[in-house]
Amino acid sequence: EQKQRVETYNQEENLAVDLAKFTADLSDKFCKERGAFTVVVSGGSLIKSLRKLVEPPFVDSIDWARWHFFWVDERVVPKDHEDSNYKLAYDGFLSKVSIPPGNVYAINDSLSAEAAADDYETCLKHLVKTNILRTSETTGFPKFDVMLLGMGPDGHVASLFPGHGLCNENKKWVVSITDSPKPPPERITFTFPVINSSAHIALVVCGSGKADAVQAALKKTGNVPPAGSVSAEEELVWFLDIPAASKL
Ligand code: 6PG
Repeated sequence: EQKQRVETYNQEENLAVDLAKFTADLSDKFCKERGAFTVVVSGGSLIKSLRKLVEPPFVDSIDWARWHFFWVDERVVPKDHEDSNYKLAYDGFLSKVSIPPGNVYAINDSLSAEAAADDYETCLKHLVKTNILRTSETTGFPKFDVMLLGMGPDGHVASLFPGHGLCNENKKWVVSITDSPKPPPERITFTFPVINSSAHIALVVCGSGKADAVQAALKKTGNVPPAGSVSAEEELVWFLDIPAASKL
């Protein structure tokens, strides 16, 4: 059953170091155990929080050739667009490490939102068949080794927004959204059953603007935002700075 921990840091710098350790340790474990490591990232400030991983000592010790890199959500824009989560991850992370290009699963930017979501789901199904992706024995959904996620000030995770019907999707793996309250409006996103079938999840949240949503998600007070529905099969760790944790 899942373990949940909340880690609070008095400096964002320390948070970033611990997040790098967390990810590097999981990388070691899974690369040894199964010869592959499936990693999913969100967009937003998360990529900046991962900066220590692409610096020594971590960058030199990680077995990048065994990484398989995915996005939990993507905006429907060209890959070189300022709003692209691919571009964000490429500039801040992927361009600094040697993950084989064939192991980087970008969302197809030449399709409509709906077709891109279907295309990504098909890609994931193929990776299940070839055993790169595992399947959760409990849920039957794909089981990623780790998801590294941010949370918005309204408590959204991935592109699953408060009160949106897509939060209840329980069949599809990847869906499109055309009315995202956070711009740009057209996106594709993993669904909750996929997120919650992950082995490990880090939810990384900084800043006082997110303190209310952190409180509501963790204390289950008031309207519990989507972040409060996140769970992992083995371990969910909240990485918070003091301002984000100030209402706990
Ligand atoms: C997106 C993200 C989204 C993000 C949160 C937090 O593409 O919009 O994947 O889920 O992680 O909105 O973003 P910030 O950390 O920038 O607030």
